[in-house]
Amino acid sequence: MTPQLESVSKPSKPIKASKLSWLGPGVVLGGLLPLVVMIWDAYSGLLGANPVQRATHQTGLLATILLLASLACTPLRQTLGWTWPARVRKALGLLAFTYAFLHMLIYFVIDHGLSLSVIVEDILKRPFITVGFAAVVLMIPLAITSSKGMVRKLGFVRWQGLHRLVYLAAGLAALHFIWQTKKDLREPLLYAGILGVLLLTRVVWNLRKKKGRPAAAPASRSS
Ligand code: HEM
Repeated sequence: MTPQLESVSKPSKPIKASKLSWLGPGVVLGGLLPLVVMIWDAYSGLLGANPVQRATHQTGLLATILLLASLACTPLRQTLGWTWPARVRKALGLLAFTYAFLHMLIYFVIDHGLSLSVIVEDILKRPFITVGFAAVVLMIPLAITSSKGMVRKLGFVRWQGLHRLVYLAAGLAALHFIWQTKKDLREPLLYAGILGVLLLTRVVWNLRKKKGRPAAAPASRSS
């Protein structure tokens, strides 16, 4: 961050690290709770008439929400000066990947019985599956390189470049959601709209930063 930027805007009062020690574990536990409930419901036969479809829908929706939440951390710092969401960005991203991967597994393994020919045909012939698959594939290197050790190994600039793939993955996930919706497009369009706002905020912030005029709070490290 340049000294020039520091003088333009004031960061919101930082919250003491010790006060937020519950945040990381809280997000992980809260994020995994729906999975525990889903497993319990499946075990108790409470997933309705079409449990596979229900589990596919729930995991797909959770993956989307968590991915958007992870992408909201930086814009929240940029616009409101909130630094605490950055502490849980990695956890949110990994949770999003977990649900996206599960979502894919439920469909390919339980729905398609892991028949490779059917799966390949599905990926090649159904555009909404093609983009969903591409999104999951793009998220794999991000999950693998999410540790601090990998940041050090790759170097921050290369690591950051790689992690920009998350925008593409999120865009493909939004397209997948829109494409698989048969009737009412309001829900997938709402998620796509939120993604658009989050990405636009980053673009505006970066443009203003280049000109030396941050939109709100200063950035310590943007990703
Ligand atoms: C290989 C990867 C994927 C496959 C095979 C797949 C498959 C599916 C299928 C079969 C459906 C339900 C379609 C229907 O019932 O008509 C669905 C819905 C959905 N998927 Fe995926 N998907 C994949 C990746 C993703 C990813 C990466 C995300 C998000 C990060 C995602 C989010 C969603 C959402 C939000 C829905 C709609 C859920 C609802 O209706 O409430 N999917 N997906």
